[in-house]
Amino acid sequence: MIVRPYKGYRNPLPKKLHIKTYGCQMNVYDSARMADVLAALGYVFTDKADGADMVILNTCHIREKAAEKVYSELGRLRHLKNARAQDAGEKGGGRMILAVAGCVAQAEGAEILERAPYVDMVFGPQTYHRLPEMVARAERHAGAVLDTDFPADPKFDHLPDQTRVDGKAAFLTVQEGCDKFCTFCVVPYTRGTEYSRPAADVIGEARKLVAAGALEITLLGQNVNCYHGEAGNGTEWGLGRLIAELAEIGGLERIRYTTSYPADMSDELIAAHRDVPQLMPFLHLPVQSGSDRVLAAMNRRHGVDEYRRLTDRLRAARPDLALSSDFIVGFPGETDADFEATLELVREVGFIQAYSFKYSPRPGTPASTMEIQVDDDVKTARLAALQNLLNEQQVAFNQACRDKVMPVLLERAGKHPGQLVGRSPYMQPVHTDAPDNLLGTIAELRIAAGYANSLAGVLVEGEVGATETGAGA
Ligand code: SAH
Ligand code: F3S
Repeated sequence: MIVRPYKGYRNPLPKKLHIKTYGCQMNVYDSARMADVLAALGYVFTDKADGADMVILNTCHIREKAAEKVYSELGRLRHLKNARAQDAGEKGGGRMILAVAGCVAQAEGAEILERAPYVDMVFGPQTYHRLPEMVARAERHAGAVLDTDFPADPKFDHLPDQTRVDGKAAFLTVQEGCDKFCTFCVVPYTRGTEYSRPAADVIGEARKLVAAGALEITLLGQNVNCYHGEAGNGTEWGLGRLIAELAEIGGLERIRYTTSYPADMSDELIAAHRDVPQLMPFLHLPVQSGSDRVLAAMNRRHGVDEYRRLTDRLRAARPDLALSSDFIVGFPGETDADFEATLELVREVGFIQAYSFKYSPRPGTPASTMEIQVDDDVKTARLAALQNLLNEQQVAFNQACRDKVMPVLLERAGKHPGQLVGRSPYMQPVHTDAPDNLLGTIAELRIAAGYANSLAGVLVEGEVGATETGAGA
């Protein structure tokens, strides 16, 4: 790993670092990058908070419960920290540094230090490259550290590239922040304005990931399809072009991207679904609601018809494409008729997987002060009805995969001896009996059964090349 040692660092003993990650894949990526920066300071990752020298909660602020969970987790960690301090007093040794990172840190800032004064560091998502200074202060007991700035220089310019891959599937952040200001969403406030990494940096990092063993890369961004990275000579590349270039990297078998904003789906990106075989036939394309009235109140810059036409065009480009989405029920002012329109859209488009949420008012967002808030029991009933329908579609798709042959990236050992678990092109977990030497490879499996959340497959011997990924949506 090419990480320059931090000059102020003196203690040569390895220290234990535990990071608990909440929320989206971008947080998963950020946690890995924090671990990289801290590795240079002598911190080695451990999967337990108990006994760790530093515990970081990498938090999510998208819905209310997520933030409350952080406070209750902090309460629990306080006991570990106190026990550790007592041990240190009796037996010697260091204390536990407790940190809150991510979007709750950005949104609540100093309030965290007030509600939980035993926390040592609070820092936002744009500051991870400054961890060495923050840690030095915390280690010196120089008071609590609070850093929720949006620095002028993007953090990517100061972070070491990822060079380690756990397993064969890696995440790569290409875009961050959002300027769309959907009226329900905190992301523009917590992650800041929209920024795209230069194309050469992305490609360089992707090459390193592939050299380190990655077969699959998922490009990440809050609005990944509005990517417009600088590509030299005053030109910019969109995501379609970036994907086409990444597909030239030998050994990179699978490319995915998430999350996309429907109104930013360019012709070039749709064409990439037709032209780039490595681009997996599965797309997360959040629509939020099937009612134009609600979409307008949400400040989404697309209508229902536009979304329908977009899914038609995507399927014309890649007939085996399947879709997933996010939905919010009970947005302020949502009527029974609006909600019925959402169900109608789901029936029409068909989703193989989805996330659906009750609307949760987020402080500081325009929707939180809209007058006609929907009663919680109405939200609960709508969520149950929507999830019923979405589950039916998911199970139907999984069952329709039966007898298809799919390439499956075998990622880990299963629960039973001799069993491996992998991911299909559609992200379905697939269980199979297979020899260990197939771990970390893409194997052709014939699907024997489809369940609610997974598939069972059988190795196809001598049939390599007879791939039909299409199960139809
Ligand atoms: N740009 C991305 C990220 C959005 S956050 C996107 O458009 O998908 C992930 C999901 O959380 C959103 O799609 C939305 O469905 C949900 N969400 C965001 N804010 C919410 C809120 N206040 N209440 C309920 N769900 C919310
Ligand atoms: Fe949030 Fe809308 Fe941006 S959902 S992340 S404000 S596109």
